[in-house]
Amino acid sequence: MTSGPIIDARDVDYSLEIAGRPLNILRKVSLTVAPAEVIAIVGPSGSGKTSLLMLLAGLEKATGGTVTVNGAELGGMNEDALARFRRHTLGIVFQSFHLIPSLTALDNVGLALEIAEPDLSMAQIRDKAAAALAAVGLGDRLDHRPTALSGGEQQRVGLARATVANLPLLLADEPTGNLDQKTGAIVVELMFDLARRNNTAVVLITHDPALAARADRVFTMTQGQLTETTAPRARPAKAKAVK
Ligand SMILES: Nc1ncnc2c1ncn2[C@@H]1O[C@H](COP(=O)(O)OP(=O)(O)O)[C@@H](O)[C@H]1O
Ligand SMILES: [Mg+2]
Repeated sequence: MTSGPIIDARDVDYSLEIAGRPLNILRKVSLTVAPAEVIAIVGPSGSGKTSLLMLLAGLEKATGGTVTVNGAELGGMNEDALARFRRHTLGIVFQSFHLIPSLTALDNVGLALEIAEPDLSMAQIRDKAAAALAAVGLGDRLDHRPTALSGGEQQRVGLARATVANLPLLLADEPTGNLDQKTGAIVVELMFDLARRNNTAVVLITHDPALAARADRVFTMTQGQLTETTAPRARPAKAKAVK
């Protein structure tokens, strides 16, 4: 951990060459997120939200500007360094859960912890994974495989997996996209709750403006450009002077 921002992206460009022609996906995106801050990103499909998340996760490289996460500038890192960075910095929650179908809930979460903290004993991994599942209300589903769980339950396993190692950053790419509205709202509340309790910063991509409004700040991606669009908070009513 450093004392600076958890995310400091500056003038980030991201372009790909498609059929010999450049495709500009992100243009001069800048974003600073403080430790433990919760932000949401909304914007139309195809506007570049997932691409930005991939850059923040060190899964893709910016073609311009700098991406600094937890004090590390990702542009200069090789694949090994990026893999280490990911293991010790962030968890990701995906729209389609991405759980390993042959593993139980406990082993899906345990595997993520084992990767993040290879020095833990099997008993420690089991205990911590069980605690992470209990924290998302799945303490009685440890031995269930993903197919035996509802969508909301699978996403809660995804959340436990992304938070079990207590890393400083949680990236969530439309985590409610495959859930009904009510289940989605419960999962997001749970995610924000966990994050606040563990001082985890969150970047939540969502289509749902009501969920986005639960974040500390809201950003909108439009054709590869990011702007802050946090709604002004209702000001607390001023106490009236007593005459
Ligand atoms: N690997 C890729 N190859 C070709 N086009 C891509 C690739 N990744 C992203 N794009 C394009 O970049 C744009 C932004 O995509 P994406 O970041 O997935 O947007 P969002 O998550 O907001 O829907 C889209 O037009 C998409 O088709
Ligand atoms: Mg996307």
